Amino acid sequence: MLIRMIYASRSAGVLGPADVKDIVRSSVRNNAPLGVTGALILSNGIFLQCLEGDHLAVNALYHRILLDPRHREPAILAFSEVDARLYGAWNMGLVPTTDANRRVFLKYSPQAEFDPYGMRPQALEALFAELVAEARVITALGA
Ligand SMILES: Cc1cc2nc3c(=O)[nH]c(=O)nc-3n(C[C@H](O)[C@H](O)[C@H](O)COP(=O)(O)O)c2cc1C
Repeated sequence: MLIRMIYASRSAGVLGPADVKDIVRSSVRNNAPLGVTGALILSNGIFLQCLEGDHLAVNALYHRILLDPRHREPAILAFSEVDARLYGAWNMGLVPTTDANRRVFLKYSPQAEFDPYGMRPQALEALFAELVAEARVITALGA
């Protein structure tokens, strides 16, 4: 069964773009054989990750990710059975925190600052759909 899960967590300490690229690189390597796809955002000290794939594969991966000391306070915010993937082209896409992307984040955020913990599941789904539709997702290659 194909599912999409979206969860948030808070970065432990100050993590920058290089740390996120490191996470995305190992995610691409590990997720490919699992058939898991998705995207990762780090903004305002908060990770927001979309994971798509078989429900058991995503569940097992999520439990592995929870062990990572680079984040804390994880919360599953959306979980749904889906007919198709949004991120079929990315074993883990990176959504860089550019000014343009921040505006998309804030479009769906109730607060003035990016705070996905306060967002409805439908808004989170719409956010990730808009990011991919507007080609705002990149691979983690590069510096
Ligand atoms: C917010 C966050 C999201 C992550 N997402 C993934 C992921 O989708 N896939 C993955 O394999 N590792 C992910 N990781 C990294 C894992 O926790 C772990 O470091 C990695 O799987 C280890 O891979 P390695 O043994 O190949 O080095 C994530 C870590 C964090 C902090």
